[in-house]
Amino acid sequence: MNPEARKPFIAGNWKMNKTVAEARKLALEIKNGTLNESDDVEILICPPFGSLYPVSEVLKGSAVKLGAQNCYWEKNGAFTGEMSPPMIRELGCDYTIVGHSERRSYFRETDEWVSKKARALLDVGVSPIVCVGEVLQDREGGRTNDVVRGQVLGSLDGLTSEDMLRVVLAYEPVWAIGTGKTASPEQAQEVHAFMRNILIDLYGLDVALRVRIQYGGSVKPENVTALMGQPDIDGALVGGASLEAASFLKLVSFKTGGID
Ligand code: PGA
Repeated sequence: MNPEARKPFIAGNWKMNKTVAEARKLALEIKNGTLNESDDVEILICPPFGSLYPVSEVLKGSAVKLGAQNCYWEKNGAFTGEMSPPMIRELGCDYTIVGHSERRSYFRETDEWVSKKARALLDVGVSPIVCVGEVLQDREGGRTNDVVRGQVLGSLDGLTSEDMLRVVLAYEPVWAIGTGKTASPEQAQEVHAFMRNILIDLYGLDVALRVRIQYGGSVKPENVTALMGQPDIDGALVGGASLEAASFLKLVSFKTGGID
């Protein structure tokens, strides 16, 4: 199958940033700035929970999609502070990020939790963006592949080939997140290819060639084009550079150089 079938996918993870008013303003700027974007790039923004509904209203009539940054796996019940996949769906989200390294480290999320969240999201028609990535000690100790393999196997546990066609993976080396240190395009490609090989083992070539794998970690207008030029890098999951319309819009137009 032609890898061109993997539509480039640029996603903004706003993390715990922006008030509702600021979120609406940024979403409107992104909506207006992408009106002429061709539909060969998929664009997603993931504001904090409290802004999902207001932003969904702003995005009406736009091709820009909405995503959440986390969820719990139960549908409802006594889980104080959590949001369920059906609630996220109702707010207009097509995607939800799961297993982000900040959730894995600060909130002790395990691969098992990530797989339960992915399952619960798929069950209500929301696509999970499943994040994996090694910390600096792992990379320096030559354990990147082992760590990434463990996270991929654990986080996708129980998902079928059919499920995988609705899952997006994100490789985010933890040492590159918010640090300004990007993995070089070659370093990122090496791990993306490794991940795709794991998918081939698990789901076969046809499915593996259709799963999109985003890169995340200090993606900026200056480096997006080189990263996106790698054969197994299908998109970007962007934190810092997604918080300003100007830089996010440059990322979205990576095909024309990404940068002014
Ligand atoms: P960053 O964050 O672009 O600020 O490095 C990426 C991410 O955490 O998804």
